[in-house]
Amino acid sequence: MTSKKYDWGGDSLPQIENHSLCKHKIIKDYLIKYICVRYRGNIPYPNSSFKLTIIDGFAGGGQYDYHGTTVGGSPLAILEAVKEAEAILITKHGKDRVRLDVDIICIDKNKYAVKHLNNTLDQTEYPREKIRVWNQEFGNTLPEIIQFIKYKSNSRGKCLFILDQYGYSDVLMSQLRTIIAMNAEVILTFAIDTFITFLSEKSKPVLKNMGFSDSKATRILALNNHTENCRAKIELIFSEHIKQHSNAKFYTPFLIHSDKSNWGYWLVHLSKHYKARDVMMDVHWKHGNKIAHYGGPGLDMLSYKSAFDNDYTDQIVLSKEYRFDEIAKAESMAVLPEQIARVVHKCPLPFHELKDQISNNTPASDEMIRSALWEGKENKELIISRQKKDRIKDTDIIKSPPQSFFSFSRNKG
Ligand SMILES: C[S@@+](CC[C@H](N)C(=O)[O-])C[C@H]1O[C@@H](n2cnc3c(N)ncnc32)[C@H](O)[C@@H]1O
Repeated sequence: MTSKKYDWGGDSLPQIENHSLCKHKIIKDYLIKYICVRYRGNIPYPNSSFKLTIIDGFAGGGQYDYHGTTVGGSPLAILEAVKEAEAILITKHGKDRVRLDVDIICIDKNKYAVKHLNNTLDQTEYPREKIRVWNQEFGNTLPEIIQFIKYKSNSRGKCLFILDQYGYSDVLMSQLRTIIAMNAEVILTFAIDTFITFLSEKSKPVLKNMGFSDSKATRILALNNHTENCRAKIELIFSEHIKQHSNAKFYTPFLIHSDKSNWGYWLVHLSKHYKARDVMMDVHWKHGNKIAHYGGPGLDMLSYKSAFDNDYTDQIVLSKEYRFDEIAKAESMAVLPEQIARVVHKCPLPFHELKDQISNNTPASDEMIRSALWEGKENKELIISRQKKDRIKDTDIIKSPPQSFFSFSRNKG
């Protein structure tokens, strides 16, 4: 299977599967939290408003058929999220103190998708002048989007990109870099299984287009002997490539499986802010059963790193799929205190630096990390000066007691 193409030009709506509905739920939940969290930090002055632009770069036609029922696509998930976030904020702050100014730009290169989307949006209550629908290739619209945001909010506007491409090659690394440089966030789909399965000499131009050098592309192709092990190695290269070339400080690549075909794609979240990463992690834990990552619990989320490094034995560590469920949470919590103690044993770190260092390697939420620190303190594996778990501050130094080195060495052997 390659990525299934939706068609909004026929007599019936395209059919949608559970995994895509799950993706919409994640996008919607994330947006609700994003707006509520960022609003709290930026309650607008009287007569001003909270400005946000959401770009749905591969918007589709807006509606699908799900077992005989019409359901909304990503643009409707966005509209619902804005409405729900507004209701939450009004309950919290009062109607007079809530002024959202959210523009939504939907882009799709397919004219049938755009026609259907326009019809669908005309039937919603959202102010139509706040939704733009552009029938273009996403990549060509970036300069216009940047202009729009500058004009709207003097370059300081918040913006979030949802880039739900079919495959893996419609969003360039240079575009991700431009977006991240705007201080924006990205939710990107990347059809990793399709890509690796169909990798061949013919993929060289695609790899080049993705920003891989000739030598890296040759290395990827040389790795490709269609074993599980080679998949793990290629996934790791891709994962690091996206993180490095987008310049995003925080990066989470999680896998969503199609329930019918069992093919998976990554839902990648890219941002510059720890809080944003944490909010997304909370959403993943909420939708636990549908999202997965390989590797280990705790700080070993991408532990197939060691498989990659170990070319001699070529052992594969990528053996288990972790869902974001209670079992995975318990396994992470069982190993995190000692793993953190190992990190700070080498060098004591302020809490914010510890978070920066570990958060791309762990599925743990901020709350889980704090609980692990506290358990480490109670087990005397860690030294933290605070007396209460929820009072740990970013500047607090986390260190391990000197004698802990010996117990680690013993456990290791
Ligand atoms: C996976 S579907 C999008 C589904 C939609 N985001 C949703 O969740 O309801 C991908 C869409 O991207 C459009 N598309 C493909 N390549 C594109 C490009 N380069 N620029 C803009 N749209 C593109 C296709 O026409 C298709 O409607």
